[in-house]
Amino acid sequence: VKTIGILTSGGDAPGMNAAVRAATRRAIGKGLQVKGILKGYEGLINDEVIDLDAKAVSDIIGLGGTILYSARCSEMRTLEGQKKAAETCRRHGIDGLVVVGGDGSFAGAQKLADLGINAIGIPGTIDLDIACTEYTIGFDTAVNTAMEAIDKVRDTSTSHERVSIVEVMGRNAGYIALWCGIAAGAEDVLLPEKYDYDEQQIINHIIETRKKGKSHHIIINAEGIGHSQAMAKRIEAATGIESRATILGHMQRGGSPTAMDRMYATIFGAKAVDLLLEGKTKRVVAVKDGEFVDYDINEALAMKKNLSEYEVELAKTLSYNYVLK
Ligand code: F6P
Repeated sequence: VKTIGILTSGGDAPGMNAAVRAATRRAIGKGLQVKGILKGYEGLINDEVIDLDAKAVSDIIGLGGTILYSARCSEMRTLEGQKKAAETCRRHGIDGLVVVGGDGSFAGAQKLADLGINAIGIPGTIDLDIACTEYTIGFDTAVNTAMEAIDKVRDTSTSHERVSIVEVMGRNAGYIALWCGIAAGAEDVLLPEKYDYDEQQIINHIIETRKKGKSHHIIINAEGIGHSQAMAKRIEAATGIESRATILGHMQRGGSPTAMDRMYATIFGAKAVDLLLEGKTKRVVAVKDGEFVDYDINEALAMKKNLSEYEVELAKTLSYNYVLK
């Protein structure tokens, strides 16, 4: 391997820049050339390639977003798009590609590897929904952002003795909801993986909690369930308690990465380059039992992962009303 290309793909995540910096500097330190590809696979297909040197990645370790920009690229799902992307790699002499992103981005890396471009994936998404790994870049920062926002919502929720529904990101997964729900001490945490649409249970919970003297009721709703505004209206009608919904949205994707995100991103970034130098391709870097490992992309994409049942149980059983039963 002589020239490495790096791209960030899909939804951005805090810590992606730390991964770009680490991969770039690791590669330069090993005598390789480094190219940055702008706007993910879209930029690869459209030949938007820049040179990266050690200076180009200075002072980005603490920056949110991604200096390489990111995109969701439907063209990369077509053979034609994949061939164009491989052609851009060849034109620039890129014989090792590092892709930071989620499952969809790994699928693109897999196709490029099949077309003869060495490719390694790095898990980067706030959602934590990549089955092969215990950690994905951006999760910790996003959870902290959501937790701080919930703490603020609680202040006003208490003053007005309201029910507050706070909707958090995570696509179809409930990892962000579960973690920020536990970390912020929410009364209810609604998870797509566990949601049974029995709203009456939630309504009963609110009424009982209020009777036992709690002045607010925070419900964390995962975006995979959604409909928070309508839910607030129904809850207000059923309980007679003023209810409001707050959708946190894209603020959860921004901000300076936490130390944890910078650390994991740095190790993932360096490890991806190390794997390419070992002659490996079509692999994804991951964390298993606290160790940094790598998997074949096909194997990684076929894995399944579940929420921790213990954490799900705690989210429920530490709520005020449950304990006073
Ligand atoms: O995958 C990260 C994520 O922020 C999800 O939590 C969310 O469902 C999605 O991306 C939103 O995507 P977009 O920014 O393209 O609307």
